[in-house]
Amino acid sequence: MRSLADQVIIVTGASSGIGEATARRLARGGAKLVISARRSDRLEALARELDPSGERVLAVAADVTDDAGRRRVVDGALGKFGRIDALVNNAGYGTRGPVELVPLELIRRNFETNVFALVALTQLVAPHLRERGSGRIINIGSVAGRIARPLSSVYDSTKHAVEAITDGLRGELAPFGVQVVLIRPGFILSGFLDAANQASESILAHGGPYAPYFAGFRHDYRRLQQVAGTGDDIARLVAKALTARRPAGHYAAPAHAKLFLFLKWLLPNRLLDWIVRLRKG
Ligand SMILES: NC(=O)c1ccc[n+]([C@@H]2O[C@H](COP(=O)([O-])OP(=O)(O)OC[C@H]3O[C@@H](n4cnc5c(N)ncnc54)[C@H](OP(=O)(O)O)[C@@H]3O)[C@@H](O)[C@H]2O)c1
Repeated sequence: MRSLADQVIIVTGASSGIGEATARRLARGGAKLVISARRSDRLEALARELDPSGERVLAVAADVTDDAGRRRVVDGALGKFGRIDALVNNAGYGTRGPVELVPLELIRRNFETNVFALVALTQLVAPHLRERGSGRIINIGSVAGRIARPLSSVYDSTKHAVEAITDGLRGELAPFGVQVVLIRPGFILSGFLDAANQASESILAHGGPYAPYFAGFRHDYRRLQQVAGTGDDIARLVAKALTARRPAGHYAAPAHAKLFLFLKWLLPNRLLDWIVRLRKG
């Protein structure tokens, strides 16, 4: 069991939801943190709350899709703390809508944030971990990385890509003493729904023949809220992945996430397609 105390950890997407909960939990464990996101006001307030002295938590406002922003995050960590022990790639958002109607530009944008930025940050951090022969990279995937649903396949495909990148990277960095972990949250109460609705506004407003099904999709999400987890359910897994002597390759929470992953393994595709089928609201 490794301790969190004094590990230098970068957490992206720390201005709300899972990333914020993760920053809180890691700070309680004594980690030194570099927290990042675009909304600097929220980020600065969190940094001050977690560490009024300013010695253990550094806030770096940056867009993960921006190369200079990513470098500021990594240089900030090295400049303030002199090393990096772990990277938690958490920043991300969802795009809604039928494949037929989502403009390619919006699909590209979603991949830029959820996949290419994650890869680019990993490329900046991995050399430091590899050269020191230790460290961890924790990627926040999703149950949606295993199960794709109608009206969500753009987002779901980004998380499928995160699964593949994470699993391949695990084998690449293992010989150098660096562990790579994928965490698959189920439905978590956070800013995610609002961000997805905002990113998909133009598509949802002009759904054409798909419009009646959007209401059904929203209804399913409302029902899911009854079993939704909290950001801290995932933060707990991040802490576990950072402290376990030999972390598992994959973790999932809350309970419904494990159930869905089990059903994906168990059921024939035809039955899964029926379960996630489009329904009118
Ligand atoms: N909530 C769920 O049900 C759920 C389920 C499975 C997986 N996940 C995954 O969990 C991760 C966190 O999501 P969440 O649920 O905590 O949602 P959230 O509350 O909306 O948090 C998303 C975070 O990502 C940041 N972010 C988004 N785009 C960014 C960009 N271009 N540059 C920098 N930061 C960016 C946001 O900060 P700013 O807006 O301030 O930049 C925010 O801090 C995401 O990868 C999401 O796909 C969520």
